[in-house]
Amino acid sequence: MASHIDDARAQVADLVKFDILSVNQAEKNEKQIREVARSFISDTLTVPTKEMYLYASQTSLGDDVYHEQSTLALEAHMAQLTGKEAALFMPSGTMSNQIALRSHLQQPPYSIVCDHRAHIYKYEAGGAAFHSGAQIIPVIPLNRHHLTLEDIQDEVVTGTNIHFAPTEIIEIENTLNGTIIPQEEVIRISDYAHSHGIKMHMDGARIWHVAAETGVPLSELCAPFDSVSLCFSKGLGAPIGSCLVGTKQLITKARWFRKLFGGGMRQTGILAGSAAYALTYNFPRLFTVHALARRLEQGLRDLGVEITSPAETCMVFFDASPIGVDYSEITERASQLPDPLQVGGSRLVVHVQTSEQAVDDFLALIRTLGEEKKAAGFVRPEGQAKVNGKPKNIYVRSVKKA
Ligand SMILES: Cc1ncc(COP(=O)(O)O)c(C=O)c1O
Repeated sequence: MASHIDDARAQVADLVKFDILSVNQAEKNEKQIREVARSFISDTLTVPTKEMYLYASQTSLGDDVYHEQSTLALEAHMAQLTGKEAALFMPSGTMSNQIALRSHLQQPPYSIVCDHRAHIYKYEAGGAAFHSGAQIIPVIPLNRHHLTLEDIQDEVVTGTNIHFAPTEIIEIENTLNGTIIPQEEVIRISDYAHSHGIKMHMDGARIWHVAAETGVPLSELCAPFDSVSLCFSKGLGAPIGSCLVGTKQLITKARWFRKLFGGGMRQTGILAGSAAYALTYNFPRLFTVHALARRLEQGLRDLGVEITSPAETCMVFFDASPIGVDYSEITERASQLPDPLQVGGSRLVVHVQTSEQAVDDFLALIRTLGEEKKAAGFVRPEGQAKVNGKPKNIYVRSVKKA
């Protein structure tokens, strides 16, 4: 105890202090890194590496509410990369999407048209209604893969009929469940939207994957949009952060809303540094990630498993019922392997930290389960599995390579 602290204050300090590092923390972290390499649950589980933190720890130390230097540099880079006037670093993809919507929308009533599977509709806690007072109009794509102009035209509200909330934003998520919306279709939708005074927002949490897979530059992918939200903390493997890009006017407003929403952060240099590291070192690894996802998909097909959504980027959706195996069995048996795998339902996500061994082990497990079912008398049903009378396999298209 330092001599200038009296007993009362020393006791308070004793109560306050907290050693957050558990016994064997380094060992536990190593274990977690091994688990992440064998998890197909989500790319949000990717962990920062020592190299990423070493780089990030050398960034500037300013307070971002007063414009932090490294963060400003990242924002400038993101604006330039996406071909927009300005960018704003955000704590999360949800906040980035919600602030984009809030910044575009001025005076209710209004509506936002999006795919019925969109994150802004299903997984942001009803944020568009709460923050912006907006009605969301969810649309089911006729081709069961991506929205087309025709799908949207049927749902968009224009005109002066006071029974309806006029559409002010069309939102596109790309990738959506790992699938890519064709850029020609994005442009058709955008031309239509802009000719009706409707804004275009993209949830580009995983737009990186589209650029990596198609070879189309991010500026071109983002050109049809008035705003785009891009995440660093998913496929790119940074711990925290997203970026909203758009016009200077929009980003000025968004900065205001970010403060209002409680998202004005302080020493963000370390976060901007992690994002910069992810852009430089992890983005190029997405090519390999996609190849590994395709290997996983092909391996499943070879075992007689149905692919319900192919690996256009980093996700594969599958159904092993044609070989008599259900999801709960897979999850349970995967968790019981000597070196367990984490699997959750129909979606398999491959990411920058997925090991090739995990893919091999998963395929071996499915093979074993299939053989067990066969030995127990399971006979594969004739024909292709159907949902509502339609083949389960959704529309498959070839991805255009640059
Ligand atoms: C497509 C998409 N958009 C937005 C988000 C929200 O990101 P966050 O979890 O950082 O709020 C996610 C999260 O996984 C997502 O998958």
